[in-house]
Amino acid sequence: MQTHEIRRRFIEHFTKAGHTEVPSASLILDDPNLLFVNAGMVPFKPYFLGEQTPPFGTATSIQKCVRTLDIEEVGITTRHNTFFQMAGNFSFGQYFKEGAITHAWNLLTGDVSSGGLGLDKDRLWVTVFTEDDEAAEIWEKKIGVPAERIQRLGMADNYWSMGVPGPCGPCSEIYYDRGPQHGREGGPIVDDTRYIEIWNLVFMQNERGEGLGKDNFEILGPLPKKNIDTGMGVERVACILQDVDNVYETDLLRPVIEAAEKLTRATYGAADASTGRGAGSDVKDVRFRVIADHCRTGLMLILDGVTPGNEGRGYILRRLLRRIIRSARLLGATGETMEVLMDTVRATMTPSYPEIAENWERIRSVAVNEEKAFLKTLESGSQLFESYVASARESGSTAVPGDVAFSLHDTHGFPIDLTMEMAAEAGLEVDEAGFHSLMAEQRARAKADNDAKKLGHADVSIYRPFVDNHPTVFTGYTELEDEGAVLGIIADDALVERAGEGSRVQVILNQTPFYAEAGGQLADRGQLRGAGGVGDVVDVQKVGKKLWVHYVDITGGELAVGERLTATVDRAWRHQARQAHSGTHLIHAALRQVLGPTAVQAGSMNKPGYLRFDFSYGGQLSGDQLREIETVANSAVDADYEVNTIETSLAEAKAMGAMALFGENYGDQVRVVEIGGPFSMELCGGIHVGHSSQIGPISVLGESSVGSGVRRIEAYTGMNSFEHLAAERSVVAGLSTALKAPSADLPERIEALSARLKAAEKHVEQLRRAQLASQVGQFIDGAEDVNSVALVAAELPEGVAAKDVRALVQDAIARFAERPAVVLFAARDGGKVPFVAAANAAAVDLGIKAGEVVGVFGAEVGGRGGGKPAMAQGSGTEPERIATGLAAVRRHLAAQRPGER
Ligand code: ALA
Repeated sequence: MQTHEIRRRFIEHFTKAGHTEVPSASLILDDPNLLFVNAGMVPFKPYFLGEQTPPFGTATSIQKCVRTLDIEEVGITTRHNTFFQMAGNFSFGQYFKEGAITHAWNLLTGDVSSGGLGLDKDRLWVTVFTEDDEAAEIWEKKIGVPAERIQRLGMADNYWSMGVPGPCGPCSEIYYDRGPQHGREGGPIVDDTRYIEIWNLVFMQNERGEGLGKDNFEILGPLPKKNIDTGMGVERVACILQDVDNVYETDLLRPVIEAAEKLTRATYGAADASTGRGAGSDVKDVRFRVIADHCRTGLMLILDGVTPGNEGRGYILRRLLRRIIRSARLLGATGETMEVLMDTVRATMTPSYPEIAENWERIRSVAVNEEKAFLKTLESGSQLFESYVASARESGSTAVPGDVAFSLHDTHGFPIDLTMEMAAEAGLEVDEAGFHSLMAEQRARAKADNDAKKLGHADVSIYRPFVDNHPTVFTGYTELEDEGAVLGIIADDALVERAGEGSRVQVILNQTPFYAEAGGQLADRGQLRGAGGVGDVVDVQKVGKKLWVHYVDITGGELAVGERLTATVDRAWRHQARQAHSGTHLIHAALRQVLGPTAVQAGSMNKPGYLRFDFSYGGQLSGDQLREIETVANSAVDADYEVNTIETSLAEAKAMGAMALFGENYGDQVRVVEIGGPFSMELCGGIHVGHSSQIGPISVLGESSVGSGVRRIEAYTGMNSFEHLAAERSVVAGLSTALKAPSADLPERIEALSARLKAAEKHVEQLRRAQLASQVGQFIDGAEDVNSVALVAAELPEGVAAKDVRALVQDAIARFAERPAVVLFAARDGGKVPFVAAANAAAVDLGIKAGEVVGVFGAEVGGRGGGKPAMAQGSGTEPERIATGLAAVRRHLAAQRPGER
């Protein structure tokens, strides 16, 4: 059964049972605790926690998930995909354990002819949480699973949470026995490769507190309702139903392995055939599987707007893409591979995700650009390696030291196996132990960082009571000034009752007009003023989306918990912030109008008077494109569009055509900001002007690259824009005065001036050469006869550069035909004495050597020289001895009698 058929049957099974089908959310949800969506329940979190009322009682979805924690396991085990599809059914206070168990069982074991998946029920095993007698009884009594195939496991295995505070509960997992060829008897508690987990049913009923790991946390108490969250691994079920060895060989990934075989000319599964072993962990096969897995994850991440970078999500994408490239090279690929591989993923995944086709050009270009960039790094790493090999050979060493291997890994992204392979080719070994100990040190550093971050995370607990009990009321969409009661003050990470002048504290109010930084817009600035004190608000951040935390410098008196304050946003700040944020929307709309829909937002930042907007795009923008974007944006300002905000459902917003790129919280009421109807419509919680004309002029400063495939546009808005333009105008006015030309004529005038300057420089150069040539003529006229040889030995006039000396000597010697001749010219060039000597053929026949001549001269002027008999040169350091040197040359030739030479 094909994967898309498994998906279809799952959804149909649950919609028939009254569940609302919910499309997959983006892999990137706005949750500070999660890099990527890693379970089907993530978009439903607010419903489980009771923060929002779900618009349905039961739902079903097939959610895109990415988990990269086990990246080293990929391809080695049979079941670890970094991208996978989690098919789930969810009940919000409707059915509970019995309903979830029955639904899952019926779908898994139902007849293929009647919409089921047709698994043999005698091969299914289940696990339940140690204390969960209720679930065990349902499995045994209601479903009829024999007691010996129901196993019990503790917290670490059968109690599910997101790993961070949130909903949690005991769970029951369903396993499929793949048969004795895959491992030992005894059920999932004995062997989880033979018995592969296919479905997890979570009985979501409690709220998890802080704490680490899978079983070391506090249970805060029951959730408002008993819920169901389940997750069936689509890939794992496909692996069983397609009767293949592992999840990399299913219909969606096998074609990628085949494409890799063609590109690398290596064979997948070759070890199998020759040794009769299972696919196991043959190193080549692992590489093929890594390629297949990572290509799909990479494509899906790029689809959802991730671009390769050095931090966070971008770093993970980069790591995946680089692992593909390296694996392909280690398998024997020599050129670029990304386009062909990605194209194969496109073909297998588009039927389930049609948006891949619409975004293909962008996806392709991000992946291909990253490959090009990495291949360059590989090249520079290879050079470092080569230079190391050369010096190792010189010093007779036979091993590549651990630190070289480490630096190749750390700076150039070389995996140790690549270094080892290259070393073996060069007949060297690698100090693996040294390498691994440096890696261990690095890991220890990373772990220390991580622990520090976890502490940071724990510190957030200080806000917990406020988040839960007193979410802030934000009135800033309509108010600049408001009253608020002080609920809490935090100084140096601790709650305090009051704080006085000179301290920097965090103030939590029950209500505030201050905009907290979000959606690219920086926080408002302003003042808090109470009966006993006053402070400047220097930043405002949101905690858990619901709590506004004001960072305040207390400038006078005291602020205290319980008192009422007047919170006043700086009017000018807010005015310019709105201009910049609305300006960002106009630039975004203009960009897509000019560049097309592949120019997808990758990030943005705006603050009073300034905005920057990052977007994925294959190449540099031309001057014309930039001007057009600026014109479209300013025309929208001029059109004086009304700016409207609409609160609606996500589905409705998308139907309206609103751009929702970075996955707003799912099922939420969302806020759409619309400028000029279809011209610009975006999901946005930011603060905007009322009419587009209030933005004022937008002036684009330019565009640049910020990483592979991502460009950045920067612009000024409002008065800042005007001031920028005015400053430019005064520069132009200054030029106009200086050049005595109206501004419109300046480009032409400057062009003409620079052409004239070039012509003049060329003319001067010609004159100089003519003058030198005539001087050469004078020198030749003054040639002395020394022992029947014409000798021209002279100091060239000031201003002759070292590079001219040689040409002049050549010119001079060429003027002597049959007569034996020697020329030596020396010059003064910045304290140095460059000199060149030449002897013509007739002189060389007499035994004269230019090399000897420069030797004699060089010895006098504090330098050295050498060369061939016909031409030699050198450089000295004592210009004041030039005359002495010339005399020495004369004496040298005079001392050599004809015939004795
Ligand atoms: N949320 C559960 C899981 O991810 C279903 O396994």
